[in-house]
Amino acid sequence: MPVIESTKKAYDKLTWTWRPSSDKEAGDAIVKNLLLHWFPNKISKASLSWNYSMWLGTISFVLFMILVFTGVILMFLYVPSVERAYSSVKDIEFVVSFGWLLRGMHRIAAHLMVAAVFFHMVRVFLTGAYKNGSAIGANRPLNWIIGIVLLLLTLLLSFTGYLLPWDQLAYWAITVGTNIASSAPLVGKAMRFFLLGGNTIDQNTLIRFYVLHVFFLPMMVLLLFSYHMWRVRKDGGLAVADHEALDQRPEKIAPVKSKTYSLLGITNGTTVHVQNTMVDEEKNTVPSSPHLLRRIWLVTLLTFVATFLLTIIFRAPLEAPANPAVTPNPAKAPWYFLWLQEIVTITTVKIGSFTINGALIGGILLPGILLALAIWWPYRDKSSINSVGVWFAKERKIQNWVFISICALIIIFMIIGTFLRGPYWNFYWPWEAWPEMPVKF
Ligand code: HEM
Repeated sequence: MPVIESTKKAYDKLTWTWRPSSDKEAGDAIVKNLLLHWFPNKISKASLSWNYSMWLGTISFVLFMILVFTGVILMFLYVPSVERAYSSVKDIEFVVSFGWLLRGMHRIAAHLMVAAVFFHMVRVFLTGAYKNGSAIGANRPLNWIIGIVLLLLTLLLSFTGYLLPWDQLAYWAITVGTNIASSAPLVGKAMRFFLLGGNTIDQNTLIRFYVLHVFFLPMMVLLLFSYHMWRVRKDGGLAVADHEALDQRPEKIAPVKSKTYSLLGITNGTTVHVQNTMVDEEKNTVPSSPHLLRRIWLVTLLTFVATFLLTIIFRAPLEAPANPAVTPNPAKAPWYFLWLQEIVTITTVKIGSFTINGALIGGILLPGILLALAIWWPYRDKSSINSVGVWFAKERKIQNWVFISICALIIIFMIIGTFLRGPYWNFYWPWEAWPEMPVKF
């Protein structure tokens, strides 16, 4: 049947890169494909391990791509105007065919991306992968800093998207979030004014957040991500490959026995043996096609399925339309900023008529110090090259524990802020009922 045959041919043409039949085809698959040519021809087996990177960076990028695809379709349906934003989201949710799925996947992927990028950073820290190995020209500390900027951009992307439905949840989360930012000394008020496009959250804010959300921030993420990946190549691949190369330093590799030979009986000699300082290519690397490509496909598929299932389980909320006159009690920031809101509350202390400003301590100084520490740490960490690319290296025990403790505290505060804080930010166990609150105008 000619139709079946031509379909099979088209399928083969489309997919031959995933199942090369020779080393030459495997090489061609990478070099000749626009999308694949940025991968190395061969990759160390250690980098492909599931346990080392947990593929969290790849998962973050797949989630970003889901956000781009669903976001572009949402742009055809959403209207960024104070009068129409809420009703357009309501239409997407209840009128447009599969609109709820589109909006839900966009929302779940956004939440997941914040978490995936955070845990990717945690894994990079715990494997000491922000340090240089033996590759010439490596600059992993720079890639760590690029990563921190990517994390901040991811948070901003999510934060700017939060406002767009223009419901009570959106309006008040952004009010709380920007109020925290405004407590920075000297520049705080100006910063809030600049972010909101005025003193109140209104049309100026909506259009500002919209442009940042659909164009400026995604572009920045895309550009920086490309640089992030290019640096991974320049830095000699993942740090675990560096560690493998170190394990095979010439002194650790048993010398290969040299052969003696004679040429036509005229001259005798021994083979010249050149020792390799990098990983033993034959034994420890495999062609990227199909080994890396198949794993990337699998990770993409699993991330997509997980996002899809979570979207069906947790429907995206849509509260009453934004109303500046009705303040919910409690008014909460987005979940990834709730640890800051929690610290702001704990550090706000009233002694008589004197008040210690928690917003300054918890909202600005503490995150500022944490950020500065994160940027400085790769240059401060003097642990040896042996601990690069190794999970929980003994040498880095103390710093790993300090890092884990800080992350654990952030997560605990987030959980408290999300589930255990009620009216006036009082503490309530999940089984305790909240008191009836009069609506504040
Ligand atoms: C949008 C956010 C980000 C994306 C899409 C991303 C993507 C990736 C990918 C795909 C890799 C290859 C290995 C892997 O999958 O783990 C990687 C490696 C790396 N990332 Fe990220 N990343 C992001 C944010 C970050 C952050 C927040 C940090 C740290 C602060 C960071 C630091 C690094 C470093 C140092 C490497 C090299 C790791 C190694 O050699 O083992 N990245 N990133």
